[in-house]
Amino acid sequence: MIPGLTAAHASALDAIDPLAGLAAQFHHPRDGGGGRSIYLCGHSLGLQPKSTVEYVDQELADWQRLAVLGHHAARRPWISYHEQASASLADLAGAGASEVVAMNSLTVNLHLMMVSFFRPSGRRNRVLIEKSAFPSDRYAIVSQLKYHGLNAAEHLIEVEPRAGEEYLRTEDLLARIELEGRRLALVLLPGVQYLTGQSLDLSPLIGAARRAGASIGLDLAHAIGNTPLRLHDWSADFAVWCSYKYLNAGPGAIGGCFVHERHATSFDLPRFAGWWGHDQASRFHMGPEFTPMAGAQGWQISNPSVMSAAPLLASLEIFRRADIRRLREKSVSLTGFLQRLIEALLPGVVEIVTPSAPDERGCQLSLRIARPAGGR
Ligand SMILES: Cc1ncc(COP(=O)(O)O)c(C=O)c1O
Repeated sequence: MIPGLTAAHASALDAIDPLAGLAAQFHHPRDGGGGRSIYLCGHSLGLQPKSTVEYVDQELADWQRLAVLGHHAARRPWISYHEQASASLADLAGAGASEVVAMNSLTVNLHLMMVSFFRPSGRRNRVLIEKSAFPSDRYAIVSQLKYHGLNAAEHLIEVEPRAGEEYLRTEDLLARIELEGRRLALVLLPGVQYLTGQSLDLSPLIGAARRAGASIGLDLAHAIGNTPLRLHDWSADFAVWCSYKYLNAGPGAIGGCFVHERHATSFDLPRFAGWWGHDQASRFHMGPEFTPMAGAQGWQISNPSVMSAAPLLASLEIFRRADIRRLREKSVSLTGFLQRLIEALLPGVVEIVTPSAPDERGCQLSLRIARPAGGR
């Protein structure tokens, strides 16, 4: 056995792990023998917290008991239900509570953000993304280009890793942003790249996009709840995420959105409006004119789906107790342990695609499995 990689060593680490009890707070699928399976798909769909059922049951019970009165009298009043996620989401995003909002789903939020922050004008009409961007992001961007009478061939810049390399170099992205300069209307980057698990060095990239005069947005589907974020300080214009991966809020759960404080009262920005983005004090006056709320909430359209937000509240309560910084420490240690095991036990069979430096990745390891000789 390889020193430091034994089951005994792993158990010794578990014994001093302050977060060791957390795993028992989630339902784990069973393996073929009825035992608890080792679940490595949290980047796709997170496990269900055991407390989720109580949160959902509470809303079903309040709906039975109170019907419409539940908007105000439910244990967690529905009228402001989404706001109960704000403090924890703000902590995970590294933002102020008024800069985040739980709403819709990721691609819908991306469209809504582009309505406000992709404003091509004259020669400033290009969007820069990475070549392997998640397809839904690319579809959304290409459809927005078409909506503005533009086309992907001319107006979509896709930056890819150098030939023979797996992931993007910060200096290449910086150079391309600088080169495009005044032609750039929007830069959209991932926090953690979904295929390779690479965590981008966002601060300088956001700075470069802003110096070029472009809007800068982030897709944090694989970053939120995975790596600590500092969205306010990094100063991106907007960010969008889903909650069914690392946030454990269940399939199709309510997503989230960040809008930087500097846009909190930019009421002249074009936006697609709906009553839930209307000033709360006068929302129920039912007047004909739209008066947006300040902050990220001003981009809401419809009243929030309580049934898809309830599991998010259950999960965020666990994140609050665990603390993302402590989770990250454990994640670095666990991911490093798995990396060392793979390198020691499966050389030449399994190749790790993800960067090996902990600060260049989250908790995902993307693996390439070699074909057996003569195999297909
Ligand atoms: C990186 C990334 N972006 C966007 C999406 C699309 O999310 P949604 O279906 O919530 O719009 C996903 C979904 O897995 C994703 O992984």
